[in-house]
Amino acid sequence: MCGIVAYIGSKQALPILVNGLRRLEYRGYDSAGVALIENRSQSTESRNPEASIQCVRAVGKIDNLSEKLKGQSFDSTFGIAHTRWATHGGVTESNAHPHSDCSGKIILAHNGIIENYRELKEKLGSSHIYKSETDSEVLAHLIEFYYRGDLRKAVLEALAQVCGTYGLVVMHGDHPSLLVSARLGSPLVIGLGEQEYFVASDATPMLAYTKKVIFLEDGEVAEVSRENLHIVNLKDQNITKQTSQIEWDEASAQKQGFDHFMLKEIFDQPTVLQDAIRGRYKTEEGTAHLAGLNMTDAEMRSIKRVILIACGTASYAAMAGKYMFERLAGIPVEVDVASEFRYRDPIIDNQTLVFGISQSGETADTLAAIKEAKRKGAFVRGIVNVVGSTIARETDGGTYIHAGPELAVASTKAFTNMTAILLLYALQFGRLNKLSVATGQRLLAALAEIPEKMKLVLAQNEKIKELANKYKNNPNFLFLGRGVNFPVALEGSLKLKEITYIHSEAVAGGEMKHGPIALLSPMFPVFAIMTKNQLYDKMRSNIEEVKARKAPIILVATEGDLGAAELAQDVIFVPPTMEVLEPLLNTLPLQLFAYHTAVALGRDVDRPRNLAKSVTVE
Ligand code: AGP
Ligand code: GLU
Repeated sequence: MCGIVAYIGSKQALPILVNGLRRLEYRGYDSAGVALIENRSQSTESRNPEASIQCVRAVGKIDNLSEKLKGQSFDSTFGIAHTRWATHGGVTESNAHPHSDCSGKIILAHNGIIENYRELKEKLGSSHIYKSETDSEVLAHLIEFYYRGDLRKAVLEALAQVCGTYGLVVMHGDHPSLLVSARLGSPLVIGLGEQEYFVASDATPMLAYTKKVIFLEDGEVAEVSRENLHIVNLKDQNITKQTSQIEWDEASAQKQGFDHFMLKEIFDQPTVLQDAIRGRYKTEEGTAHLAGLNMTDAEMRSIKRVILIACGTASYAAMAGKYMFERLAGIPVEVDVASEFRYRDPIIDNQTLVFGISQSGETADTLAAIKEAKRKGAFVRGIVNVVGSTIARETDGGTYIHAGPELAVASTKAFTNMTAILLLYALQFGRLNKLSVATGQRLLAALAEIPEKMKLVLAQNEKIKELANKYKNNPNFLFLGRGVNFPVALEGSLKLKEITYIHSEAVAGGEMKHGPIALLSPMFPVFAIMTKNQLYDKMRSNIEEVKARKAPIILVATEGDLGAAELAQDVIFVPPTMEVLEPLLNTLPLQLFAYHTAVALGRDVDRPRNLAKSVTVE
C-alpha cells in the first residue's frame, strides 16, 4: 500500500515532505496529506507546552495538496506525510491521512490494513468520536487509549492488539521532538542525516539528503528524535541494526531493487495473497467469511447460477473460479468476456449472481456488462483491486482483492489474488450447501501454505531466466493445460504475447489433437502444465503426442515427478497442493518466463506497446 514520508531535523519540513511524496507517486494513490508540528521559541514553550499541529489533506494528485498549502505559512522542522491507496473507506478528504485521536494531539500516517479494526472500535467504545471511515484512524484512538505520557510504550501496547499490516509513523503534540515508527508487512526505511532523520516507504524521498539508511524489519519499532535513534522489538527490547549505504539510483529504489515493476509485483504475490485472505475465513467452521458480499444466507442459498464477467487476465481468473465454484459449491457457473456478455442476450433472473471481476475497476466493457446484469435483475457484486473505483461503486457489494497498486501493464499479483477471492467465495457457498466442515478445513489449511509454496517457486527465478534465454528466439509458442490449469495456460500465453510480442496461444490439452497439433514442429515449443492431479495421466498422453512431433517441451510438474524429465527438454517443479489451489502456484513460472523472455528481447516490460493498464474504452 502506498506512501509514507516523515522528517525530523533542522530544515523546514514541508518541502521535504511534499517532494518526498512526489517520489512515491509511482506507487499509485488516490489522496494525500501532511501534518506538521510547529516550531516554538523557549518562551512560547514555557507559556504553552502543547505544540500546535497543522494538518492539510487533499483528494487526488499531490498537486491538489500543494494547491491547498499555497499561501499558508508553516514554521516547522518536524512532520509526517502520506499518499493513500484506499482499502477501507472511500476516496474522500476526511479519509485521507494523517489521522488523529479525539484530542487531536496524536497524529499518524499508516500504510497497510488493520484487519480487526471493527473489533478494536467496539472495544474502545462510544466515547471515541471518529472523523473518518478508515481502519487507520482506529489505531490513533487505540494509541490514545494506552497513552500515559510515553508515546513509544503507548504505540507498542496498541500494536499488540492489532491484526493486520502496518508501516506507521506517529507524532504527539506534547512531544514536539519525537517520532515513533513501526513496521509489519509494509516497508519502512530510516534515513540517517546530520542531526536529522527521515522515515519513508522506500529510500527515494531521502536520497537527495542521505544514502545512509536502516531498513526496518517486521516487528521493529523506532523512536526517533533529532539527536537519537532507538530501535526496539514489539516486546520493547533494544535491537541493534546495521546501517546500509544505498547504491541504487532513484528509479531502481522505487522498484525496491527490482529491475521492473512487473518483477517486483510477481515477487509481491506471497505477501499480497496473505492480505487477500487475512481475516476472511473461519478455520473452526471450515468456511470463508467475505462480509462485503452483502447477501443473507437465504439469498446465497437461492442462487441457482453464477456468471463471472471480466476481460483479459481477469477473465482467466474467472475461468479458474468456475472450476472452484462447481467443484466446491456445486453451482453452475458461466464465464463471459465482458465485451461478449452484453450483446448475447444473457438469460438472467433474481436467482443469478453476477460477479464483475476487475483489477482497475474501470474497464469499460466490464462496467457496461454489469450494468446490463443489474438491469436484468441479477445480484451483481464486484471482485476489484482499486477501492472506490467505478465498478466497485456500481455493484451492490463485493470484495477488494488487496493486491496493492499494480503498476506494470501486465497483470500478475491481481490474477492470483482474484483467484484466491473466487476460491473463498466458492468455499463460502459450498459450506452453505453440501461441502463438509472437514473438507473446508482441509482447503483452508492448504491455502494457508500457499504463500510459502509460492516462495519456493519464485526461488527458481534464475533457472527460469535461463530457460527464457534458451527459447527467446522461437516465433511461436503453444501453452497446454487441462481442468483448472487450462486458465493457467491461457494466462501464461497472454503474459508471453503481451510483453514479448511473440505469437502464442493456449489450448486445452485434450483439444490439441483436434487441429492445433498441426502447428507443432521443432521451432514451435510447447509449455505444458502436467502437475499431479486427477487429469495427470490424460495430460501425460497429450505430452507424448507433442513429443512424437518433435516439438520442444517445457513442463510445469509436481516436485518428485521424476517421470516428467523423460518427457521434456526442461522441467520446472512446483510444490504439490490441492487441485483447486494449483493456479496460485502454477501461474508463477509462466509469469517469470514471460518476464525474462521480454527482458532478453529488450522489450519495454512495464509499458508494452499498444497496451494500457486500464482499458476505459469499449
Ligand atoms: C493483463 O495482463 C492485461 N493487462 C489485460 O488483459 C487486463 O487484464 C484486462 O484489460 C482487464 O483489466 P482489469 O482487470 O483492470 O479489468
Ligand atoms: N488501510 C488504510 C486506508 O484505507 C491505509 C491504506 C494505504 O496503505 O494507503 O486508509
